[in-house]
Amino acid sequence: VRTEVGIVGAGPAGLVLANVLLAAGIDAYVVERGSRAEAEQRARAGLLEHQVVEYLRAHGLADRLLAEGTRHGWCEFLCEGDRLRFDYAARTGGAQHWVYPQQFLVRDLIARLEEAGRLPFFGCPATAVHPAPDGGGGTGAGRTGAEESGATGAGAARIECAELTVECDYVVGCDGRHGIARAALPEDMRGELTHRYPYDWLTLLTEVDRQVEGVLYAVHEDGFAGVMPRTGGLARVYLQVPAGDEAGRWPEARARERLAARLSGARDALPRVGRVLEAGVLRMRGAVGRHLRYGRLFLAGDAAHLLTPSGAKGLNLAVADAADLAHALVRHYRDGDVAELETYSRRRLAHAWRVQEFSDQLLRLLHLSAPEASGGAPFTLRLKRERIQRLIEPGPTGAVFAREYVGSGATVPG
Ligand code: APR
Repeated sequence: VRTEVGIVGAGPAGLVLANVLLAAGIDAYVVERGSRAEAEQRARAGLLEHQVVEYLRAHGLADRLLAEGTRHGWCEFLCEGDRLRFDYAARTGGAQHWVYPQQFLVRDLIARLEEAGRLPFFGCPATAVHPAPDGGGGTGAGRTGAEESGATGAGAARIECAELTVECDYVVGCDGRHGIARAALPEDMRGELTHRYPYDWLTLLTEVDRQVEGVLYAVHEDGFAGVMPRTGGLARVYLQVPAGDEAGRWPEARARERLAARLSGARDALPRVGRVLEAGVLRMRGAVGRHLRYGRLFLAGDAAHLLTPSGAKGLNLAVADAADLAHALVRHYRDGDVAELETYSRRRLAHAWRVQEFSDQLLRLLHLSAPEASGGAPFTLRLKRERIQRLIEPGPTGAVFAREYVGSGATVPG
């Protein structure tokens, strides 16, 4: 097929991009490795930021989210037996999170593409993308030209699948962490900066005896524990475990016992954890690519960067990338202005690093490192409590943190 923008990957990034482009009169096709059912059932993130929801609403992509999602404007820190409530909505003029499972958002976005006659090609793994067949195939000499001005010249880019080729003006790699689009960058542009944290998070999807109303972060000598609201009588529970631990090392009884210990200081009752429906381990890694564009190829979402789950930033950053790129492509097709396409990579890297730094800050607040745990833990815990206190009391520290936490800064272009 021939189209204007070819997109690899029907995750949140690819689906938002395709929808916004089509609504603006720019043709787009998505190719997706998995089946439609797989895409619509994969449970992952579930916390959408204020600005992201405003963006989806403005583009008519949030009807069900607004009808069925629930809002959260505060979280709590449990530290040294005290529950310290951080009312971030009050600190940001009312900005709140929305709780809406990622797979529901994916389902809604696919339905909209279907209505537009552009249902993604499911079961269609891309085997290669060609960013700029006429603009330098990755040699040093062709590089600068392709990187600096490849987005303006004529010539088709291409996505190759086993039974389908998508010819397009631009290719966008929204194919997640293990996608293939990155590999089309010349070797010396493919690098990324990565960090491995010295712990992982055991994650449990559990039934709870009553609705979890806000995110709870327990900062404890034994390690971090978190309880996150999910809809329908469920909650997502996180437990800090040593880096590299497998879920198998955490039978339910052990997980329950550590969770109870870490939440034990709470003076009043917390929701009780019932049946465990799912267990896994989230590896705590961060990564940011060095280049998110080469010629007619752009990378967005997890293909461009990886966030730890702390602060629930990954999904939101993926949508923000899509929003930025959609805006730049509209400027190009409608106004003939390529300036924003040319500077896409720089803009998205700046945003990704900012978010990466915030996630890192939150992680450091929530975890005790091993040396502290084996000696200076009470001292460190007291310092952490002081820091939490500073966040929740009136003043600039909490206001800045609240804005970054809820994502109410002007980081998602209209
Ligand atoms: N060909 C076609 N599709 C592919 C290929 C391929 N070669 N490789 C991967 N894909 C598809 C995957 O099957 C998946 O559906 O790309 C999609 C990538 O989607 P996500 O991983 O959800 O990535 P993204 O849209 O960037 O969203 C990232 O979602 O769950 C969160 O933690 C994640 O929050 C982050 C956000």
